[in-house]
Amino acid sequence: MRIIGIETSCDETGVAVYDSEQGLLSHALYSQVELHAEYGGVVPELASRDHVRKILPLLDNVLSQAKTARSEIDGIAYTEGPGLVGALLVGAAVGRSLAWALGVPHVGVHHMEGHLLAPMLEETPPEFPFIALLVSGGHTMLVEVSGVGQYQILGDTLDDAVGEAFDKTAKLLDLGYPGGPAIEKLAELGDPDRLTFPRPMVNRPGLEFSFSGLKTFALNTWQELGDSEKNKADISRAFQDAVLETLAIKCKRAIQQTGVKRLVLAGGVSANKALRARMQRMVEKEQAEVFYPRMEFCTDNGAMIAFAGHLRLLAGERGGEGFKAQPRWSLEDLVAP
Ligand code: KG4
Ligand code: ZN
Repeated sequence: MRIIGIETSCDETGVAVYDSEQGLLSHALYSQVELHAEYGGVVPELASRDHVRKILPLLDNVLSQAKTARSEIDGIAYTEGPGLVGALLVGAAVGRSLAWALGVPHVGVHHMEGHLLAPMLEETPPEFPFIALLVSGGHTMLVEVSGVGQYQILGDTLDDAVGEAFDKTAKLLDLGYPGGPAIEKLAELGDPDRLTFPRPMVNRPGLEFSFSGLKTFALNTWQELGDSEKNKADISRAFQDAVLETLAIKCKRAIQQTGVKRLVLAGGVSANKALRARMQRMVEKEQAEVFYPRMEFCTDNGAMIAFAGHLRLLAGERGGEGFKAQPRWSLEDLVAP
């Protein structure tokens, strides 16, 4: 079965062709980062319009890269949610129309399911069950994954998502957007021993997160120390260390609590190299293993949607007559195909 996957939930237009026998045949991504950078965050209406402009050229591009004619396509998967409603509608409408025109089945995919299954595109995929830490601009979640569509949320964030905390802190420090890569780069220059930020929620039992206090802590520290490149680098380092330590403590707790020794890290923040190094140390101590998507599939992309969609279509799942976008949609509402 050869399918097209379409991702348009936020500020990246991603399209891919996946074949159930041959694996990923092609993928293409257009990032709107530059478009939104001058506003310091994603502007939903501009995002929708840019998806409209980019999606058809990207489709042609992945089909020709995959040396695939439209008539060879057996199904279409698109991101149904969660995300920005206008942006989601672009991918859903194009995906649904294409399925209708080609006379093939379609399926709407949960964006976070795409992220958490993305490491299965790699050469050594994790086996079920595994624990997934989903860390993106909109989500921070620990999930126990028993199989496709079998997700139990172990812990969620009470306020900001981790990526959001990176973005907001970067904005306060005038580092630009998106904040994650900017803070990671500056943190490398920072002194690890100068400042210590609090580790939120680690002294309480449970697997919940809270990151909104850290940006205020960063701002207050910056105002106290004064504006200089060195201060900004030291603050970035202390902020990042606090976030990574907190994530590692909670992942370790989830491993100990469930006895599941496979950990998957996915979502935009899992591209952070310091996070990967920190998690590596933790899993070695726990005699567990950690799996990641390749760097380019940590952030939003069409390949993860094509992959999750192909599993659901192969299992016989079919979208109905119409199509919908679900801006808010819990992972726990999903069922096995
Ligand atoms: O998964 P993603 O591309 O989009 C969402 O579904 O949200 O994640 C984007 C988020 C942004 O908040 C961005 O700042 C963060 O991931 N991010 C990073 C890094 N690269 C992207 N955060 C920390 N370190 C990074 N290297
Ligand atoms: Zn995402």
